[in-house]
Amino acid sequence: MTTWATFSLQDSASPLMEQLTFFHDHTLMILIMITMLVSYLMFMLFFNKYTNRNLLHGQTIEMIWTILPTIMLLFIAFPSLRLLYLLDEINEPSMTLKTIGHQWYWKYEYSDFLNIEFDSYMIPTNEMINNNNNNNFRLLDVDNRVVLPMNSQIRILVSAADVIHSWTIPALGVKIDSTPGRLNQTNFMINRPGLFFGQCSEICGTNHSFMPIVIESIPMKNFI
Ligand code: CUA
Repeated sequence: MTTWATFSLQDSASPLMEQLTFFHDHTLMILIMITMLVSYLMFMLFFNKYTNRNLLHGQTIEMIWTILPTIMLLFIAFPSLRLLYLLDEINEPSMTLKTIGHQWYWKYEYSDFLNIEFDSYMIPTNEMINNNNNNNFRLLDVDNRVVLPMNSQIRILVSAADVIHSWTIPALGVKIDSTPGRLNQTNFMINRPGLFFGQCSEICGTNHSFMPIVIESIPMKNFI
């Protein structure tokens, strides 16, 4: 989860999120190199006395500074496309989790596992104070968490009942819109036990900030 001074991405909890982190670092490295080169050139312009009133064009340099950025963009585009298609790949999910966005809570259904069905509401801050309960995470914890087995492919089907919401868990690399009248599908595999927090990330109304998602990842044996 995010804690104080978490400036970068959260630690990944799934192989796909790991790949996303690698891609982020790779792209950021290219960006930093370009920024450094351009700022160096712009800075140095102030300190030279090269002037040429007749210089209007130069075929060679124009060829270079057109083709070079194109090649650099390809170094970003190809890994990006690879990841995009990798994220959408479904390979034999061992269970399906259906999640339906409501104003302002999530409803979950384990359609192919005991037909469990429940709502997941955020624990209000005043309830935490009144019960002298400091074991919950403020504005981020829910009354019914989504318990899932680790090290297994999980498919999620996402929809909404009223307006557009977005089921988003940074550590798992999942961010999928839940849209009324549509059923979106994606999948993930959690590779370690723990609690993974997420929030709705589609502006859905006044309580948009108060419909968090909590995944409790446990070994398959305990899950059964
Ligand atoms: Cu649901 Cu924002």
